[in-house]
Amino acid sequence: MGKSLKKGYLITFEGAEGSGKSTQIRFASRLLKKRGYSVVILREPGGTATSEAIRRILLDKTLKEMEVETELLLYLAARAQLVRERIEPALKKGKVVILDRYEDSTLAYQSFGGGIPLRAIEPFNRFVRGGSIPYLTFLLDVDTKQGLKRSGRNDRIEKKSLSFHKRVRRGFLTLAKRNARRFVILSSKESIKEVQKKIMKVLDARF
Ligand code: TMP
Repeated sequence: MGKSLKKGYLITFEGAEGSGKSTQIRFASRLLKKRGYSVVILREPGGTATSEAIRRILLDKTLKEMEVETELLLYLAARAQLVRERIEPALKKGKVVILDRYEDSTLAYQSFGGGIPLRAIEPFNRFVRGGSIPYLTFLLDVDTKQGLKRSGRNDRIEKKSLSFHKRVRRGFLTLAKRNARRFVILSSKESIKEVQKKIMKVLDARF
């Protein structure tokens, strides 16, 4: 049985392509479950039938002509559904929701990477997230070329230029500095075990 909480917690994992989020998400989830929390893992874009359908459009590499504004609205649409269908109900039940990407990805990819001004995206982000605000965000920082190689995928976003992906990485680091109380930066230069030690330390302090 999960520990009874008055309200749940939203933890997000962010990072560029091939940053190793999945391994660390599984680790954090196991750790919190051992502490008695009830944990739900969701990914973005995705996590509901509607959001997964939108994901397929977003990552379809044959849709080469998709404009960044279209891309932005589709990511937000996928998230609006996920927040209402899965995240809000889970948080209301007192669960810990671990999210593989959330609105920082939109800022890093569509603003820092794609060039849409931050101030244009932020009101949309507020509208879409409602009360589902991250309590803690782990940023897995990885060298751009290494990450792209490691990811090994070849979808519409991954096919964007190296300079796009470098802007995304710098964007994440900028967001982390601007929101230092919420973000924890983890470097893929360290071993998986070292990174896990840091995650454990932060979770022990905050949960
Ligand atoms: P994934 O590879 O982590 O499953 O994420 C799917 C891709 O979508 C990845 O290339 C990052 C990108 N993305 C955005 O461009 N904007 C967003 O808001 C989100 C959530 C993801």
